[in-house]
Amino acid sequence: MSGLSFQPTEGGVGAFVQDIDLSAGIDAAQAARLREGLGEHGVLFFRDQDITPEAHQDFAGHFGEINVNRFFAHVDGYPQIAAVLKEPRHEKNIGGGWHTDHSYDAAPALGSVLLAREVPAAGGDTEFASMYRAYETLSEGLKRTLDGLRAEHSSRHVFGVSARARYKDDRFHSPEEAVQDAVHPVVIRHPISGRKALYVNPGFTLRFEGWTDEESKPLLDMLYTHAAKPEHTYRYTWDVGSIAFWDNRATWHHALNDYPGERRLMHRVTIEGVPLNG
Ligand code: SIN
Repeated sequence: MSGLSFQPTEGGVGAFVQDIDLSAGIDAAQAARLREGLGEHGVLFFRDQDITPEAHQDFAGHFGEINVNRFFAHVDGYPQIAAVLKEPRHEKNIGGGWHTDHSYDAAPALGSVLLAREVPAAGGDTEFASMYRAYETLSEGLKRTLDGLRAEHSSRHVFGVSARARYKDDRFHSPEEAVQDAVHPVVIRHPISGRKALYVNPGFTLRFEGWTDEESKPLLDMLYTHAAKPEHTYRYTWDVGSIAFWDNRATWHHALNDYPGERRLMHRVTIEGVPLNG
């Protein structure tokens, strides 16, 4: 028996995990239950978790290999933990637009375990959107069209040399490593749940394979507006010790940048994934 339980949010995605203390570590039964819950709900939220960086890494390690982020600065002494930081002097935040991480990789990361270490007095919430719901609420005709399509994704315009010139700050490195381009089905079969999910995102998707940018844009824009409808989303408010464990194959996320002049520090451990099938 794993003991833990899931309380779905009142929004369109995610569930709170109850009756679990991550500081003590988890066992195989709990990990199996959480993996299943992640596949079903897309993002799992945990409150009041007082955990060390080691416990954070160990928890993520139950779900796959750790992905060492090649673009973000890491936490001192912990190369497997990326620092998602906004200092008072920074204008931009990290992740400040709807996206799903690593869609530019041939085997996109399964997801991330994001832990709040320092939060602003107000603001700094993260929104999540369900890509199951985004797909399931389309018309049967559009579903049939999308089921046959693939799309191109890239990291170059976000983390590459040209983007680095725009950012000019010390939170990012290795722009020369932003050379990934990948092609994935537009509708994927989720590796855990087996459900269909929409798999394009405003952050990294460039165009439909075999289509021009001009041809792709109207349909992508329509899908983005549809996917981000309030009824598909949930807005998570962080406290120190809050965690969100999201699945990149079932959700998008978007960090709100509404706390000028304040500091927000999150620790992120990312888990490797598998190639995606339609
Ligand atoms: C991210 O996109 O990984 C950052 C999310 C957040 O800081 O809320």
